[in-house]
Amino acid sequence: MSRRLPRELPVLVTELDDGGMGKGMVDDRIVRVRNGLPGELVRARMLKRRSGEWFGEAVEVNSPAGQRVQPPCSAFPRCGGCSLQHLEYAAQLEHKQRGLLRALAAVQVRAKRVREPVSSVRLGYRRKARLGVRALGDELLVGFRESFSSRVARLQSCETLAHGASRLIKPLRGVLQGLDARRRIPQVEVVVGDADVGLMIRHLDPLSGDDRAALAAFAHSHDVQIYLQPGGYDSLELLAPAHARQMDYALPAFGVTLQFGLADFVQANAPLNELLVSAAVNAVAPASGVRVLDLFCGIGNFSLPLARRGANVLGFDASSAVQRASRNAEHNGLGQRCEFRSADLYDHASGVVGDAHVLLLDPPRTGAGNNLAQWLQAPSLQRVVYVSCNPVTFAKDAQTLARQDFQLTEVGIYDMFPQTAHVETLGVFARSGHG
Ligand SMILES: C[S@@+](CC[C@H](N)C(=O)[O-])C[C@H]1O[C@@H](n2cnc3c(N)ncnc32)[C@H](O)[C@@H]1O
Repeated sequence: MSRRLPRELPVLVTELDDGGMGKGMVDDRIVRVRNGLPGELVRARMLKRRSGEWFGEAVEVNSPAGQRVQPPCSAFPRCGGCSLQHLEYAAQLEHKQRGLLRALAAVQVRAKRVREPVSSVRLGYRRKARLGVRALGDELLVGFRESFSSRVARLQSCETLAHGASRLIKPLRGVLQGLDARRRIPQVEVVVGDADVGLMIRHLDPLSGDDRAALAAFAHSHDVQIYLQPGGYDSLELLAPAHARQMDYALPAFGVTLQFGLADFVQANAPLNELLVSAAVNAVAPASGVRVLDLFCGIGNFSLPLARRGANVLGFDASSAVQRASRNAEHNGLGQRCEFRSADLYDHASGVVGDAHVLLLDPPRTGAGNNLAQWLQAPSLQRVVYVSCNPVTFAKDAQTLARQDFQLTEVGIYDMFPQTAHVETLGVFARSGHG
């Protein structure tokens, strides 16, 4: 068989992989196609080869699968922002749950109870996104990057972005197109709080006075905050308005409001986050005097609700987020029950757990890291509530927990990212004898 990537190929899709791509074999080669579902014979345009596999997208579908639906967005499947818009929603949830259970089975961890998938709004939910900017001749594109390419999808709006951000895509194209620096702006990040929208405009060269004035006028007419970003996040400079309100979001069930900076981590889907926080808090079962250690605590998304229910919380995070978390605790009248410290949790392990009864973990995609086994040795620890955005590292850490005598008493998925293959998992582990 030729090793050159063909332009197009018929592919019989036999399964849907964890990334939401249809998978099939052509001769003895694995071929993965966006927009292909199991059982479908598709004509696929090939886009890339990597590690001996071929990748492409289905441009014609023969014998559509029963679960195929009309994608809500015309940029699908080209746009890299979504991978599952062609699959009916119930099947998206089943697929994600199967992936989690498969990852757990691969490390021989069985949950006593698997909860029904939890979901909320399916479109218009994303409150944070990094959009690419690219000049194509006279045209300027602003959108998610296309899959397997450095190109930027041609978008007028986005179905998964929160409305406050989606409505900006078209006018943003207009204002960026008119800038002197139009070819020196590689990306714009949008951030949506409960009441405000912010844009971080990355620029590779200093902006002219005219460019600054045009962007300030845009901020005014579209009621958004614009920050210029000449380098890393520490270079952010507020351009307009002169006095930007602090971004925030509320968790009404707990009577707390969390302020955040544009560069801080915030959970992507506000309504789903409320469900996730409530479930995590219930799993911790905080009561007066319970000591909770919140590792990878960010701005206090879980810490403050836990403190509101009576727990004493010690939170750790690497970033400036802990300063924000401390201020959030003070603003919400929870300063007495919360303490936050900065640490590199992948590096610094000793003395972190102390005498906590419950450990709440919400690490990045890489998982809890090599210190987990050491943290679990603390004799006071009875339970671990683990929030994860990566089923594979969750399963690996679940194996570490099982080896240290922590049983997975329940697990379930929380669909933080509908229409994409990403998923959030909540697992509750109890030390044997404390279930
Ligand atoms: C998935 S976020 C969770 C944040 C928070 N629990 C929430 O719900 O908003 C992961 C957090 O891990 C933090 N983090 C990343 N690397 C870290 C490290 N090496 N040490 C400590 N924290 C780290 C990030 O700053 C981020 O706040």
